[in-house]
Amino acid sequence: MKTCMIKTNKICKSFVTDGEVNNVIKNLDLEIYKEDFTVIMGSSGSGKSTLMYLLSGMDKVTSGDVYLKERNITHCKEKELASVRRNHIGFVFQGINLIPDLTIRENIISPTYKSKINRRLLIHKVDDLLEQVGLKEHENKFPSQLSGGQMQRTAICRSLINEPELIFADEPTGALNSSAGENVLDTFTAIHENGQSIVMVTHDLKAAVRGNRVIFIKDGRIDGELELGNFQKEESEEREKTLFDFLKERGW
Ligand SMILES: Nc1ncnc2c1ncn2[C@@H]1O[C@H](COP(=O)(O)OP(=O)(O)OP(=O)(O)O)[C@@H](O)[C@H]1O
Ligand SMILES: [Mg+2]
Repeated sequence: MKTCMIKTNKICKSFVTDGEVNNVIKNLDLEIYKEDFTVIMGSSGSGKSTLMYLLSGMDKVTSGDVYLKERNITHCKEKELASVRRNHIGFVFQGINLIPDLTIRENIISPTYKSKINRRLLIHKVDDLLEQVGLKEHENKFPSQLSGGQMQRTAICRSLINEPELIFADEPTGALNSSAGENVLDTFTAIHENGQSIVMVTHDLKAAVRGNRVIFIKDGRIDGELELGNFQKEESEEREKTLFDFLKERGW
């Protein structure tokens, strides 16, 4: 029996632009389970990033409810939400948003400034993370001195530093070539095997098959889901084929 991490109850999100209402998420019911690596796919503009913002409490629903660990966060005050996010959630956004004036190491540590984490422990954690993603030798550089893949790995380390139970990643490999992307994906697989839960948006089959569950979004609604089981490298091709057939049936 899986434990529910996030549950939504008929959530809707609309944007008003120049007087025109755009209903982006429509009555969407979804459960995200603990220790799952959930992948969200769907065509461009289908509402994936919007959904990620709603699930993580970064943005408010227009109607409906979002429960994070059985707590309704729909009407939480911003301060309360910020604390929920800081204590439970890590983010890797679409487009990398590192702080340009901080070194790689400082960027990774930045989410801990407000947490009560033991500083000595923190030094070990940063060292471990830098080692794990192969950035140790770059720790004193600034973001502008790194490649796209190195920046993305820095963003991943930053999202992991507070040991969140749940990590949201929106197109984490979108801007990377295949070997840098593979590196980032291996990091995600390791995080998943470590028992942390991941929700990832991707357009890339190779990235998507890292997940154990794929949810397809079409026009703001769920249009099917696929159970893949936990990732095994030797099954990659088979998984990609299964996923490709699933996506093709949905006009992807
Ligand atoms: N802040 C906003 N204000 C107005 N419209 C928005 C806003 N954010 C998103 N939208 C609209 O909502 C729709 C869904 O956008 P969203 O970014 O969720 O798509 P997506 O599935 O993530 O696409 P992509 O794969 O290209 O990243 C789009 O039509 C977009 O223009
Ligand atoms: Mg998006």
